[in-house]
Amino acid sequence: MFLNPGLFLGFMITDYMEQAEDFRDNYESKVAEAVNFIQMKFGFDEPEFGIVLGSGLGGLADAIENQQVVDYAEIPNFPRTGVEGHKGRLIKGTLEGVSVIALQGRKHYYEVADEPFNNGMLKVVFPVHVLANLGVKNYFATHAAGGLNPNYKPGDIMIIESHINFLPNPLMGRKHNFFKVGTEDFTERFQPMNNAYDPFLSDLLWTAAIDYQKYVHRGTLLSVVGPSYETEAECIAFRDGLHADVVGMSVTPEVIVARNRGMNCVGMSLITNTVTADGVNTANHEEVMKVLNSADVKLRLETIVSDFFALYRESHQQPL
Ligand code: HPA
Repeated sequence: MFLNPGLFLGFMITDYMEQAEDFRDNYESKVAEAVNFIQMKFGFDEPEFGIVLGSGLGGLADAIENQQVVDYAEIPNFPRTGVEGHKGRLIKGTLEGVSVIALQGRKHYYEVADEPFNNGMLKVVFPVHVLANLGVKNYFATHAAGGLNPNYKPGDIMIIESHINFLPNPLMGRKHNFFKVGTEDFTERFQPMNNAYDPFLSDLLWTAAIDYQKYVHRGTLLSVVGPSYETEAECIAFRDGLHADVVGMSVTPEVIVARNRGMNCVGMSLITNTVTADGVNTANHEEVMKVLNSADVKLRLETIVSDFFALYRESHQQPL
């Protein structure tokens, strides 16, 4: 018996659309399934921090002690990562005595923007919901970015003080039935975004970076959809019109959801390329990866992140 190929394709499309609809309509349960799996595997304690290790920053995971590791591919419904420099592993452990869950690699919106409904964005922020459901109260985002501010150089770090979000807002669409972390209060529909980057945590990161001051800045991140880099006119508009200091392709939707779930956020951009005075951004993926793979940059980042967690532990008087 032969199956009509047109009919077969029709079944496949129907199946794909049904799965997509199921993901959209049962999003809270999809998150809960992932969380149950992680809790069964790693236990029910609530880590203090979730830290997302962006492109090429996955090496920071080496500093984590008492590691328990699971591949994203093993966790039900968890989005896998497809970009070079993104490993796709969830690591539970401690950094300077602070309990953390590190996410080694993230899904970018440009990878999933062609999914049906709003599922691409729901996938981008899925790990943030998983962290919140696990009871994680603090969200630390790291990522690679282009430097717009003329004082920034490749290899520098910017502590994110505020952001301009040019990606779709992840809170659009059906209002999900999620609680704010550690409470039984439902999340807000209209999420305030003042102090989105927690001043206390940001100051702690600044203090942690004190020995590297000439490489460290504080400023504004503007996030675009990508994956193309920016034209001259865009760079000039972002820098001179909107006063953004760096431009990237992630973080902002994650922070919107993290704030919505009641988490405190802190963010760090690693400058991989810079824009000239007349707005030229010659960035390409190879150049970006070269900075990310530089031993000096890796050591500096690792030291700053470790010192941040040591300071956090001291400020919260957690016994080792
Ligand atoms: N633009 C956008 N995202 C980036 C860049 C850039 O120049 N560099 C690294 N991520």
